[in-house]
Amino acid sequence: MTDTIVSIRGITKRFGSVEALKNISIDIQQGEIFALLGPSGCGKSTLLRLISGFESPSEGELLLDGNDMTALPPNKRPINMVFQSYAVFPHMNVEDNVAYGLKMEKVPAKEIKERVAIALEQVHLSNFSQRKPDQLSGGQRQRVALARALVKRPRVLLLDEPLSALDAKLRDAMRLELVKLQESVGVTFIIVTHDQAEAMAMADRIAVLESGTLRQVASPAELYAHPADAFVADFIGNINAFDVQQISTIDTGVALHIDELGVIEWFSEPPSTISIPASSEDKVEATLSVRPEHVSISTTIPANDQVSIEGTLGDIAFQGQHSIAEIRLDNGRSISAIIANDQALILPGANKQLRIWAHWSINNMLLLPKKAPPL
Ligand SMILES: Nc1ncnc2c1ncn2[C@@H]1O[C@H](COP(=O)(O)OP(=O)(O)OP(=O)(O)O)[C@@H](O)[C@H]1O
Ligand SMILES: [Mg+2]
Repeated sequence: MTDTIVSIRGITKRFGSVEALKNISIDIQQGEIFALLGPSGCGKSTLLRLISGFESPSEGELLLDGNDMTALPPNKRPINMVFQSYAVFPHMNVEDNVAYGLKMEKVPAKEIKERVAIALEQVHLSNFSQRKPDQLSGGQRQRVALARALVKRPRVLLLDEPLSALDAKLRDAMRLELVKLQESVGVTFIIVTHDQAEAMAMADRIAVLESGTLRQVASPAELYAHPADAFVADFIGNINAFDVQQISTIDTGVALHIDELGVIEWFSEPPSTISIPASSEDKVEATLSVRPEHVSISTTIPANDQVSIEGTLGDIAFQGQHSIAEIRLDNGRSISAIIANDQALILPGANKQLRIWAHWSINNMLLLPKKAPPL
């Protein structure tokens, strides 16, 4: 049984004529890591600033534990924001940086000392309390910023691109560390990121935003396996999408007319978000897609229970555990396949013009609307 801690209800935010957020409703559960994910400019930071109280909505309301907090100023909300690492005070040592907020609130000195010690322990910086920020690594500075927020004992911690200032390797390590920290302190985390891998690795649930609208809210696995539309499918991982030109009803389901793949019989109901046009003149807004890990390649014609397409072998990018092969279709477009390295070695890499077939099972395909209606 979970409890909603933050309720975002019908929130719209306008900046002059720009609608940065359009009628967003999300319930965030107590104790979860919730990620706001989407491309640059989609409204992630704006939503975070609304939750923190630094910005107020044009329409809609925000509830905390079921109580309206829309009019509460930021310092009256049990919510804290973690800024990027450079937001720590360079002239203060770690301890003073962490104590600063409590001093401002005139918390008694003894209590400050105790709370700072606990916060530093939580972020594993107890032995660094006397250092100045410039004597710390990027990851350690980031942990000072976290401790500064945790020491206020918030119920909700807001993190805007918390790892973006770190280099790739440190970012991976800090992802895990943040998840562990969240588990040990039990505070609800709302994290903003435009990096889908980061959101997938850390979050219990993810909200995908696009141009101020909410496209989908689901767990990482659910988003990957059942994206609401082609936008989400493409944003969450890589996918090979084929445009559907026409859909017609047949006894067993629907027939999908796809220029690149021919006519494909789809033996189940198409999603309700795809409308089947009454006339063949009407445009269809749907794609049939397959993820690269489900695509195989071969130099001989595949079995006829496979969906297949012919092309020439393009670049093969070695990735450690596997390789990613590019298949250049005859119409100039490319698709990709993740292949085992032993297969990559058999394929004559020097022969870039090698004719091959890419093939996969229809069971691994996703029939999706190009854009589902916003939630
Ligand atoms: N104070 C403001 N005045 C006017 N427009 C704003 C303001 N703040 C944000 N916007 C606009 O609102 C939209 C959403 O901005 P926001 O900062 O929330 O995006 P974001 O998803 O955080 O992007 P990024 O990933 O680049 O940080 C953008 O079009 C932005 O230009
Ligand atoms: Mg932002």
